[in-house]
Order: sequence, then C-alpha cells, then structure tokens
Amino acid sequence: MITSATLVVALVGVDIVTAYSLCKPLSQPEPSRRKAGLGWGNNGAQNMDQFLSVKVSWYYNWNFLVSDDASGLPVEFVPMLWGQAQAEEFSDTIVSTLQSTNATAILGMNEPQETGQTNLTPEQAVELCKQHLEPLRAAHNVRLGSPAPSGAPGSWQWLTAFLQQCGEECTVDFLVLLPDWYGTNATAFKEFLVDYHSRFNIWLTEWACQNMAGPGYCTM
Ligand SMILES: *[C@@H]1O[C@H](CO)[C@@H](O)[C@H](O)[C@H]1NC(C)=O
Ligand SMILES: *[C@@H]1O[C@H](CO)[C@@H](O)[C@H](O)[C@H]1NC(C)=O
Repeated sequence: MITSATLVVALVGVDIVTAYSLCKPLSQPEPSRRKAGLGWGNNGAQNMDQFLSVKVSWYYNWNFLVSDDASGLPVEFVPMLWGQAQAEEFSDTIVSTLQSTNATAILGMNEPQETGQTNLTPEQAVELCKQHLEPLRAAHNVRLGSPAPSGAPGSWQWLTAFLQQCGEECTVDFLVLLPDWYGTNATAFKEFLVDYHSRFNIWLTEWACQNMAGPGYCTM
C-alpha cells in the first residue's frame, strides 16, 4: 500500500529509538546512524525538502526511476523492481540509474502475495530476482532486498517459500519487512521488529501508527 509521505526507516542493526526521533531537533548523527528514509509516493505533489531531517538519508518511490523532486537533495535513491510488468523497462534503465545516482541498494517486489499488487508466486519472484537483480549485485556492488509481502496473513509463508526456493541462486542481503505494518500498539510494533531483527538484517519500508481496519491513530 502506498500512503502519502509514509515515513519509513531502515533498521539494519539500529536502535528502534531512531524511528521515534524523526521530528525532534537533533545534532548531526554519525553517517552509520542515519537510517531513516522516506517512502515517497508523492510524485511532485509535495515538496520533499520539508520531510528531510538530519537522520533521513534515503528515499524510495516504488519505482526504479528517480523522483524529480529529489533532485539536488541529500537523499540516496533506492530503486525498486516493483513487479513483473516493470521488469523489462527496469533492466533497460537500471544500470544508467545506478551510475547516475550511486545507489547502493535495490528493493525487491512489492506485496507479491497480493492479487491487487504484484501477484507473484514465490517461483515467479525467484525467477525475477535471478534474471533482473542478482546480476546487478556482482556487477554494481549493490545490496539486494527481498520481495516485501504485505502484512496480510500468509506473508511469512510466502517469504519462507521464496527464501527456500532461492537457495544459492539469489541473494537476500536484507529482508524488506513487511510493508503495511499498521497498528497503534507501540509495544507490539517493537516486539515484531525485535523478533525479525534477531534473525535477519531488516529494512522496514512501510509503517504508520494507524489502525487500517478500524478507528485509531497514535498520538506520538
Ligand atoms: C557519485 O559518485 C561520484 C564519484 O564519487 C561523484 O562524483 C558523484 O557526484 C556522485 N553522484 C551522486 C548523485 O551522488
Ligand atoms: C500491546 O501489545 C502487547 C505486546 O504484544 C500486549 O501485551 C498488549 O496487551 C497490547 N495492548 C493492547 C492495548 O492491545
């Protein structure tokens, strides 16, 4: 799901406090601690500059082409191979994008187990990774994120099947966690992240303190 200016944060060995500190004035953190990013689905409708803070170092836009409105801003672009329909154009353009942006990571397919999203079986996703992502890892020194199943039931089963079928043939440098972590219980949110982070490198690419299934927003 794409929501406007979804705040996202990459958690690769990070303290969860980072996620809650975005709005506070902060002194410049060390580069290794700048792990927050923007989920930028706005396509020019908003000024990205106003969402940047000293901790925000990257953005993604569910696409493999840069956002014009990031031009000149100090944020690293993280391309995504969204799904099968984009694969050909992705492969035609990605090398020049990597060269012009110095991107260091690429995200896998978006919500593959959702029929309304990219609707991929684990086998199809493995093929896409082998064909379109894996070769970039060696040639351009980029880290690869897993496909990112939604938070709907069945997501972990999908991911497990994907990882098993990948075997030695595709690399997952980090797990892209489960977009759509939406809820209002901060304790449950932290437990969810700590659980995954005890087993994998993780990037959390969509979350909001909001209950999509009913009324309820956080006060943060
Ligand atoms: C990419 O890296 C090169 C070499 O370090 C640098 O000259 C260039 O400005 C960088 N481009 C961007 C968009 O950061
Ligand atoms: C929030 O999550 C924690 C941990 O899962 C749980 O113990 C607690 O009961 C939850 N609180 C509410 C109000 O649901």
